[in-house]
Order: sequence, then structure tokens, then C-alpha cells
Amino acid sequence: MILAANFKMNHTRASTKEYLRKLQECPKPKDLELFVFPPYTALDRYEGPAVIGAQNAYGAEQGSYTGEIGLQQLKEFGITTLILGHSERRHLFGESQELIAQKFAFYKERGFTIFYCVGETLDIREKGDIQRYLLAQLEGIDLKYEGLIVAYEPVWAIGTGRSAKEEEIKEVLAFLQTLTSRPLLYGGSVKPQNIQTIMRIQGCSGALVGTASWRIESFCQMIQKMKEL
Ligand code: PGA
Repeated sequence: MILAANFKMNHTRASTKEYLRKLQECPKPKDLELFVFPPYTALDRYEGPAVIGAQNAYGAEQGSYTGEIGLQQLKEFGITTLILGHSERRHLFGESQELIAQKFAFYKERGFTIFYCVGETLDIREKGDIQRYLLAQLEGIDLKYEGLIVAYEPVWAIGTGRSAKEEEIKEVLAFLQTLTSRPLLYGGSVKPQNIQTIMRIQGCSGALVGTASWRIESFCQMIQKMKEL
């Protein structure tokens, strides 16, 4: 089982440190892998049960890429885990599939664990063209890569408080299972109240959580709920 906290543009260096200190006091089941993705400015080496990852990175070691960080900056803190293809990168910042695939290839080459996100918009869901849309988001991605973790995150469920229904998640995960044997996560309004239901969905190996992960109490509650499964 995997539980990952995506801080997005929340938390500071100081509050991340405090969060991770409190996380050490939260009992977790042995078979649960924890990941925390703080903002760039809070990346560091931290003690504790969670693997620290970056929310994004450019596919180069270093260079003239204003506003980006690359392998050199990640290496300083021993970071070898990344989120790529998050819908906010795709839709708010216009990242193309070509750019995402380039980043993927670069960090795959360097053995990174990559949380690779895919998910349809509401418009696509209503048109019923989900599979084709997801396939396009997987173009250029090595689905056999052993460091790959795929997160299914429907755009309309992210940050809206409205999680996808069990059946909807199950259907997409079943489709993704025909493409890859790597772990599949669900993300989109996961919270303490629905995490157990989501974890019981066939094919679901864990959750990528935004909003409900920002308060340590709520993240810890989800860890407890996973313990009870
Ligand atoms: P949310 O975000 O939990 O706030 O819906 C999930 C994500 O974007 O990874």
C-alpha cells in the first residue's frame, strides 16, 4: 500500500519540518509506504518514515532554465522520487505531453521513482472518450519501467471535494491494468472519510492526496484508516 501527500504550493520549510516531525509519532502499518512531496523550498534530508519527493523537475542536470530545478538540485538532498504529469502542471501551466515524456525519459534513465499522473477532464468524461484521452497522456511513457507508479486523478475530482465514485475508479483502474503491471493509485478528493472505500477498490494500491494531506492530523488519520483495513 502507498499513501502520498502532495503539498502543492502549501507549507513552508519550517512547517514541513514540523509536519514531518509529527509524522514520526503517527503509527503506520508495516506494509504502508509513505511519501511526502513538499514544495521545492522545503526539500531537504529529513528523518522519519516518509520518502521525500519533488512535485516536478526539469529533465536536465543543470543549465539555463530559469525557474526550474533539475538533477543537480535534487541530488543535493538525495531526492530520487518525483511526480510528473500532474493535471495542474498539464492544465494550469500548459505542460505538453512531449515535455512530460522528455522529463520522464531523463529521470527514468537515472533510476527515479516516478509518480506519473493521468486523468480526464469533465468534458472528456461526459463525451465518454476517457480511454483515448488517457492513452494520449501515456504517450512516450515506458509502462514497464520498474520505478513507475501510475496515479489516476480525474481532473474534476481534484481539489473539489467530490471524489470519483467507486465504479468509475474501478473501471479506469481495470483499463490501466491492461496497459501496465505497475502499482496504480487513485487521487482526487481522497480524505479520511473515503480512504477505506477507495483502498478496497480492485486494482488500487494506494492514494495520492492533496488537500486532506496538508494537516498532519488528517494525514495521520488516513494512515490509521489504512491500518484498520
Ligand atoms: P486533492 O488533490 O486531494 O486536493 O483532490 C489530489 C492531487 O492533486 O494529487
